[in-house]
Amino acid sequence: MLVKNLIALYQKKLNKVGVHNALWEMRFMFKEILNIDLASQLLEKDLTINNTQEKLIKKCLDRRLKREPFDRICNKKIFRDSELLLNPYTFSPRKETELIVDIIINLKLNPKKILELGTGSGAISIALMKIFPKAKCIATDINNRSLKLAKKNAKNNNVFEQINFICCNWLDIFVNFDFDIIVANPPYIKSEVIGKLDPEVRCFDPIISLDGGKSGIDSYKKIILGLDQKTFYKNSIIIFEIGNDQSQEVEKLMKEVNIMKTQVIKDYSNQKRFVLGTITKSKT
Ligand SMILES: C[S@@+](CC[C@H](N)C(=O)[O-])C[C@H]1O[C@@H](n2cnc3c(N)ncnc32)[C@H](O)[C@@H]1O
Repeated sequence: MLVKNLIALYQKKLNKVGVHNALWEMRFMFKEILNIDLASQLLEKDLTINNTQEKLIKKCLDRRLKREPFDRICNKKIFRDSELLLNPYTFSPRKETELIVDIIINLKLNPKKILELGTGSGAISIALMKIFPKAKCIATDINNRSLKLAKKNAKNNNVFEQINFICCNWLDIFVNFDFDIIVANPPYIKSEVIGKLDPEVRCFDPIISLDGGKSGIDSYKKIILGLDQKTFYKNSIIIFEIGNDQSQEVEKLMKEVNIMKTQVIKDYSNQKRFVLGTITKSKT
C-alpha cells in the first residue's frame, strides 16, 4: 500500500475523533513501528509498505483512533535524554515535568542524597542520577507494578546502582531525614474533574497517579504534614510539581509548617507549575 494513501485515510479518521496533530503522530508512528525515517516518508512520494507492515501499522493506528496515546502504543517515552518503558500501571511522564530537573540543577547544590516521592516510571530520579553520578536516591511509590517498571528503566539507563526503590505510602516508613532534596510530582487533579479529562489521560493513566482528592491537594497535605513530624538532620529543599491553580494553597500549607523561603516557579507555558521551599534542620 502507498504510505501517502494510508496517511491520508487515517488523518481524516483521527481528526474526526479529535486527535490533534494526527499527521505528525502518524509520521512518528511510522518511524517507531516500521522504522521508516521521516526523510524517506517526506521525500519518497511513492513509498510503499508490504502487507505485514500495513497490518502492523493499522493495528497501532486503530488503537490511536480509540484515543490511546502514542507513547502507550509505542510502549516508550523519552524524558530528557532517557528512554523509558511504559506499562498500563504507570503514569506517562510529561514534558513539563522535565523542568523540575533543571530547577534542581540550578540550585547548584551538588546533592548527595535525594528522595523522590511517587516516582512512577522513575523518570525524575533516573534523570537526576545521570546528572549527579555521585548522588544516591530513594525513589518511592505506592504502586508496586509501577516500581517494577521504574527498576527496569533504571537498569536500562545505567543508574540502577544509585537508586533504592521502595514501595510505601508517602512518608510512612521514614523517621529521620538527611536528604539534600525531596522531590514529588504527586496526583493533583480534583476527583470531580477526572471524568472530564481527555480520554488519553482519564482512560490510560492510572487513577492513583491522577486523583488528588476532592480539593486536588490531598497528597500535598499528607506529604507536608508528614514532613512536619520528622526529624531533619540537615536542611532539605522540597520541590513539588503542582496544578497551575494550586500554588497559593500549597505555599500556604508549606508556610504553616515552617517550610521557609518558598518560591513558585512557572513552566515554559507561563503556568505556575512548581513550588519549592527549605525545611530547616530540627532543633535537638
Ligand atoms: C503524577 S504521577 C508522577 C509520576 C512521576 N514522578 C512523574 O513525574 O512522571 C504520581 C505518582 O504518585 C504515586 N502515588 C500516588 N499515591 C501515592 C502514595 N500514597 N504514596 C506514594 N506514591 C503515591 C502514583 O502511583 C504515581 O506514580
